[in-house]
Amino acid sequence: MSGRPRPSVALSIKLCALEDIPDGTAKGFTVDEASEEGEEVEIFVVRLGEAVHGYRNFCPHIGSPLDWKPDSFMSDDGKLLRCATHGALFRPEDGYCVEGPCEGDSLRRVEVILKDGEVVLTGLASRS
Ligand code: FES
Repeated sequence: MSGRPRPSVALSIKLCALEDIPDGTAKGFTVDEASEEGEEVEIFVVRLGEAVHGYRNFCPHIGSPLDWKPDSFMSDDGKLLRCATHGALFRPEDGYCVEGPCEGDSLRRVEVILKDGEVVLTGLASRS
């Protein structure tokens, strides 16, 4: 594999069953099979009903993981994603920061789909 950056890394990695993520919550994963440079990548998936959205577990402020303990990604009211380090709040449906030190920035998306009731990671975007 060359060291050149690629626009995305195509994958097909089963992460969990949809029912393993209670509606309105998020779950973190470590992906170590096909990251851009052979490194482990921390991601999380948030479930909104029958939809799932995936992001790198990497805050755009200073790069901290969002969860203060495993799988704790949501704000107290359960409506937004929250970074544990300085409290930035992000919309779960698109990762846009609506409040906090990185307001106006966005989480980095990863591509996830639902297939036969399973959450499957299909791509790791390589751009920030
Ligand atoms: S690292 Fe997330 S708000 Fe500062």
